Amino acid sequence: MLVAMTEIHIFKSIQQLAEFAVEKWAEISRSEVRNKGYVSIALSGGNTPVTFYKKLSGEKGFPWGETHVFMVDERFVPYESDENNYHMIHRTLLRHVNISPKHIHPIRTSGISPETAAERYEEDIISYCRTVGIQLPRFDLLLLGIGEDGHTASLFPGTPSLKETGRLAVSVYPPDPSKRERITLTLPVINNAQNVFFMAEGASKAKIIKEVVEDKDHMLPASMVRPCDGRLFFLFDECAGSLISEKRKQTGHSAGRLLP
Ligand code: 6PG
Repeated sequence: MLVAMTEIHIFKSIQQLAEFAVEKWAEISRSEVRNKGYVSIALSGGNTPVTFYKKLSGEKGFPWGETHVFMVDERFVPYESDENNYHMIHRTLLRHVNISPKHIHPIRTSGISPETAAERYEEDIISYCRTVGIQLPRFDLLLLGIGEDGHTASLFPGTPSLKETGRLAVSVYPPDPSKRERITLTLPVINNAQNVFFMAEGASKAKIIKEVVEDKDHMLPASMVRPCDGRLFFLFDECAGSLISEKRKQTGHSAGRLLP
């Protein structure tokens, strides 16, 4: 079952998708800053969010001074590598905005093991929680992608990380041996977020997206993302959302929308 506050939006292009997302993120961020004085965001890697990050970097009035930025996941490669998620996010977004380095929480990927990197990241999150006076991380905005195998963040099908309940972040060895180790936030942290945004584009994702949105396979990592007390936004371009049934787009808790 999809959670009560689920919205599905389908756009003609990734540019329109990104514009909508920027508008929503700016609106939610400003509201959180008004209410509690800060906003916390967690960002993913991959290709899909690049257009969004670039547009967000130019958004006038985004409260960067009060924003805390975390990583949803990281590939265990040095910062200099093009594969490094933080590197991509820094290049497309963070270096263009006025944010204090103290508010940015990258995951270390050099000079330590993936396990230690996950522990350090967890300590960093715990220390941030203490600073803002909360027990558990509750990200205001969290961005996720979807892989063709149904992975999200660095939570891959069939891996032990999916069953993790006691840790905030863990190291992961992807089933595909050609992929490097990863560090990822765990499902309890992701599902404790206030607003989770999935973004996907392209026809190669259409089949898996139908399964995730229509809840056909509960074992898929992306299907396990169901915020316990938050909102879930599915943002797709037309190709990625092409197989979702009209009924799912328009009924129940979903708000289907096709921009002109
Ligand atoms: C990563 C991710 C991962 C990603 C999906 C989708 O570091 O690769 O965080 O979960 O979001 O694989 O990636 P694309 O956007 O490139 O399709």
